[in-house]
Amino acid sequence: MTPQRIAIGAGESESVVWLGRGLLADAGSKLVSPSGRFLLVSSKAAREPVDVLRRALGGRLFLDLEIEDSEETKTLDASAAIADRALEAGVRRDDAFVAAGGGVVTDVAGFAAAIVLRGVPWNAVPTTVAGMADAAIGGKTGVDHPLGKNLLGAFHPPRTVLVDPAAAATLPDRDYRSGLVEAAKAVWIRDARLSQRFEELLDAILSRDEGALLEVVSGAVQVKAAIVSSDLREAGDRRLLNFGHTLGHAFEAAGGYRELRHGEAVAWGIAGALVLSRERAGLPAGDASRILSLLARLGPFPEPARSEEELRALLARDKKATSRGIAGVLLERIGRARVEEAIPEGEWLAAAAAASIPVSGSGNQP
Ligand SMILES: NC(=O)c1ccc[n+]([C@@H]2O[C@H](COP(=O)([O-])OP(=O)(O)OC[C@H]3O[C@@H](n4cnc5c(N)ncnc54)[C@H](O)[C@@H]3O)[C@@H](O)[C@H]2O)c1
Ligand SMILES: [Zn+2]
Repeated sequence: MTPQRIAIGAGESESVVWLGRGLLADAGSKLVSPSGRFLLVSSKAAREPVDVLRRALGGRLFLDLEIEDSEETKTLDASAAIADRALEAGVRRDDAFVAAGGGVVTDVAGFAAAIVLRGVPWNAVPTTVAGMADAAIGGKTGVDHPLGKNLLGAFHPPRTVLVDPAAAATLPDRDYRSGLVEAAKAVWIRDARLSQRFEELLDAILSRDEGALLEVVSGAVQVKAAIVSSDLREAGDRRLLNFGHTLGHAFEAAGGYRELRHGEAVAWGIAGALVLSRERAGLPAGDASRILSLLARLGPFPEPARSEEELRALLARDKKATSRGIAGVLLERIGRARVEEAIPEGEWLAAAAAASIPVSGSGNQP
């Protein structure tokens, strides 16, 4: 099968995303290194796809680092440790990093690539659904800080992103399902036709059909690529990708980043954003219930902590908060979203309390 090629941005910061089955084995011809040498940083948990990648890169690997990846290890120390090893190994400006793993690995290793020698080229090989549909796409890299998530980082787009659905074959069900929430999010803000296709393909996707997964991931990447290409620095449309994330981030933080996967928190955040979208943006009831039933089929997701006091404090820290309220992304209908600049805190809290995802008969067991 011919792989699909999607370009993001242009010139120096152009990223090329390749999508296709069997691409891992073809990494040697797709990943870019001006010197021909690669430095691999990979997730210990993604051993099987990484072995295929390793064989494909063969003798061109001059450093091969496996790292622990969880939100707790997404730290400046982790990026600094990679930089140490790269410098000790004699990394040169025209050598390239390859980051193979979920969003944690591509964020941490991409950030190391951004700071070593003031920036060396890098390539991303996402091995999670969230990584393929979202985290590896768009050029943001970075790490968490004790004061908050993703507070340190750099814009440093990978030269190449290689999306092979087989890389997610060993992903635990909970990560697989929650990653699909990010893919669905991209589809819902821009593409009504693909939203319907997602519904049709979902049973196949949940039974791990790689062709079906590739089709929706490809749609999500196209949405993100188009938005990011027109708004590299997040001044305009890129904010639409935050659909579900205002409450999602608050739910995630309220659970100490341990109780809920990012995608699960976003699913609850989307349920809350639907309440606001019905009230403020005229979202038809039928569209809201289609979204909720797809979320139900992806779940059931653990319930978020919803203490009003805690959510109020967390919302006040939102980067988009002003004295008049907090900006949010609302859906006018499936396929069409807009940013509302100042939604009063009280409305957010009411939406958080009202957010609900129905329980579907075909869901997995928590
Ligand atoms: N840079 C961006 O634009 C961007 C966008 C969205 C999310 N992110 C970041 O991405 C991170 C979340 O990424 P994620 O959802 O991929 O989580 P993750 O990187 O934590 O991976 C999830 C889990 O899957 C395991 N894993 C990864 N690949 C595997 C495989 N093939 N087989 C078995 N296990 C595997 C990991 O060890 C981990 O336990 C967050 O830190 C988030 O902030 C970044
Ligand atoms: Zn997200």
